[in-house]
Amino acid sequence: MDAMTKHEGRLFVPAQPTLWPGMLAARRPARAGFIPFSHPRAHWFYFARNGVWLAAKMLGLDQGEVLMPAYHHGVEVEALVDAGATPRFYRVGARWDVDVEDVARRIGPRTRALYLTHYAGFPGPVREMKRLAEQHGLVLIEDCALSLLSGEGSSPLGSTGDVGIFCLYKTLPVPDGGALVINGARSFSLPRLPAPPRTSTVSQLLSSLLENLELRGGRVGRSLRTIARRLGRSVVKGAGLQRVPVGTQHFDRGHVDLGMSALGQRIAAAQDLEAIVERRRRNYFLLLGRLRDVAAPLFNQLPPGVCPLFFPLLVDDKPRVLASLRESGVDAVDFWHRFHPACPASEFPEVADLRQRVVELPCHQDLSPELMQQVAERARVALAKQRTRRAQAVH
Ligand SMILES: Cc1ncc(COP(=O)(O)O)c(C=O)c1O
Repeated sequence: MDAMTKHEGRLFVPAQPTLWPGMLAARRPARAGFIPFSHPRAHWFYFARNGVWLAAKMLGLDQGEVLMPAYHHGVEVEALVDAGATPRFYRVGARWDVDVEDVARRIGPRTRALYLTHYAGFPGPVREMKRLAEQHGLVLIEDCALSLLSGEGSSPLGSTGDVGIFCLYKTLPVPDGGALVINGARSFSLPRLPAPPRTSTVSQLLSSLLENLELRGGRVGRSLRTIARRLGRSVVKGAGLQRVPVGTQHFDRGHVDLGMSALGQRIAAAQDLEAIVERRRRNYFLLLGRLRDVAAPLFNQLPPGVCPLFFPLLVDDKPRVLASLRESGVDAVDFWHRFHPACPASEFPEVADLRQRVVELPCHQDLSPELMQQVAERARVALAKQRTRRAQAVH
C-alpha cells in the first residue's frame, strides 16, 4: 500500500506509519526470525519502558549500578532509576559509536549490568559488550526500542543480551506495545498484565486512521482529521475517559503494570514484516542519495539486516530546519535534545553536539518513492535556508 504524492499543493508526511483500514481485518502469520514475535519467551507491555522497569527488578539490579550510554532518550533511565538502580554513563562518539574501552574502564565493584542501545536500527557493538559482560559477571540489557525488525546481517538485534527490549508502536501502526525477551537458560515467572483502558486503544487507533486518511485523502482527509480531533478531545474530556498516551517523555509508575492491547497484538501479527524492512531500506537509500551533497550523512551506507527507524539528518540550526520542514508538511522530529539530569553533560561533548544537531526525517513503510522525493526536496530547501542565514550572519 503506497500513499499518493502531495494533494492540492499541501504535503503531509507523518512521522510514523499510519493504520490502513484494511489492516484491522487482515490476517498473516508472523514470520520466523523477527524478534520479539518469534521468540519463545516474549512478554508484552503497553510500552517498552515497562519492560525496562521489570527487567531491572527481575534481574536484581535495584541495588546496583547500570552502565548506560550518555546518548539516551531519558525515559529508559527514568524507568531504571524508578526500579531502584543507579545509572552511570559511558561515552558514545559522534557517529553513534559506543566506546567499549570507556565502558570497560567504568566497570566498578557496584556495577551489575551493561546497557546497550541500538540507535534507529543501527547495531551497536553487541558481541564486544556481551564478552565484556561475561568477563565481569554482569548482565547485558539490549535496548531495541528504536530497532524493531533490525539485525546485524542475519543475527536479529535483541537476541544476544540477557534480555532484549522492544517498542512496537514506533515501527508498526499499532496503538501501543512493548516487549521484553529473555535469552539464555534462566527462567523467570512473570505476571500477565491487564489490558489497557479501551479508550486508549480506540483513541490511538482513530488518530492513526485519521492520519492515514490525510496521507491519502489530501484536503478532505485533512479537514476530516481536524474535525474528528476536536470532537474526540471534547468527548474524552467531557466523559472523563481515561487515556494513556504513548510516545511520552517521562516514566509514570502508575502505568507500569499495563499490558499490550489485544487489538495491537492483532494488528502487529497481520503486518508484512519483510515488506516493511524492504520499504524502509529503499526509502533510506533514496534520502541518502538525494541529501548526501548537502548534509554529511551520519552513516554512509546501510549495512545488511538494518531496518532504519528514520533518516538522521545532521544540521547546524536544528530549530530553524525543524520549523521549515514542519511548515512544508514533513513531520520531522527533534531527536533526543535533552540529557537525563543524572548524566553529567559536560563530560560528553560529542553527545551534546548530537543532541543539538540530529533531526529525524521519516522513511517509514507508508511513504512511496514519490513522497520520499518530496521529503528530500523539502529537506534541501530547509538546509538552504539554514545556509543563507549563516551567510547573512557572517556578513
Ligand atoms: C532507547 C529507548 N528506550 C526505551 C524507550 C521507551 O519506549 P516506550 O515509549 O515504548 O516506553 C525509548 C523511547 O523512545 C527509547 O528511545
